Amino acid sequence: MPSIHVYFLPELVRAEAVAGSCCVVIDVLRATTTIIEALAAGAASVAPCLTIEDARTRHAEFGPDAAVLGGERGGRPIAGFDLGNSPAEYTNTRVSGRAVVLTTTNGTKALVHCRAAREILVAAFINLSAVTENLCKVASTQTINIICAGTDGIITREDVLMAGAIVAGLNLPEDLLNDQALLARDAWLEVAADRSAVDLAARLTEVMRESRGGRNLIEIGMAADIELAARIDRQAITPAYDAKRGLITSGEERA
Ligand code: MLT
Repeated sequence: MPSIHVYFLPELVRAEAVAGSCCVVIDVLRATTTIIEALAAGAASVAPCLTIEDARTRHAEFGPDAAVLGGERGGRPIAGFDLGNSPAEYTNTRVSGRAVVLTTTNGTKALVHCRAAREILVAAFINLSAVTENLCKVASTQTINIICAGTDGIITREDVLMAGAIVAGLNLPEDLLNDQALLARDAWLEVAADRSAVDLAARLTEVMRESRGGRNLIEIGMAADIELAARIDRQAITPAYDAKRGLITSGEERA
């Protein structure tokens, strides 16, 4: 029986348990938001790497002209890297036609955790409708596992809200949802209730500014990233991670 499972952290589901399913990975602040922005800006692919060393090696394999090296540790850019992890840095001028080799603290780990899945989609508020539409096509036949990256093993509100927004959009019978899916959906419905699109983006920004990840970004002078991450449906792509090739592409070929 197909079902929708939400996991508030990758650690809450064994890597083998997602084998053969459709996984959705969420790290709103900021890894998945940045990946979507980079691909929408024309990057050929994004190669997520777990460590700084892996990222340097992968970048060298692509060759410096063919790839951009980006990422963060503690939210800050990494010494010697071309770009940090602010979505707005990934402009057409910087990334068009090039691969982006990216290492982040939690988001890239969550992606790699799902490597046994049949399909791995990349989601954030900025592509909410695109992801939900893609999932609608498979929800009646496949198990969907929605995995929140969290921050350093701690559940983050923005990832749970995003998971809830997907669950609400799919509108499936409750007996197909696990308890985390029900909790996420109800949390989202409470935030979204009776709000216009403009109002909702403002409320989301407020909520994210209060979260652990959001407070960290404000502290290091990156509050603008929170506003961008709250722009629901800013992009219309659903990137997919091919774990065998170690590459995320825009998914436009699927549309
Ligand atoms: C992560 O993967 O943990 C995030 O990218 C953190 C950040 O953007 O600062």
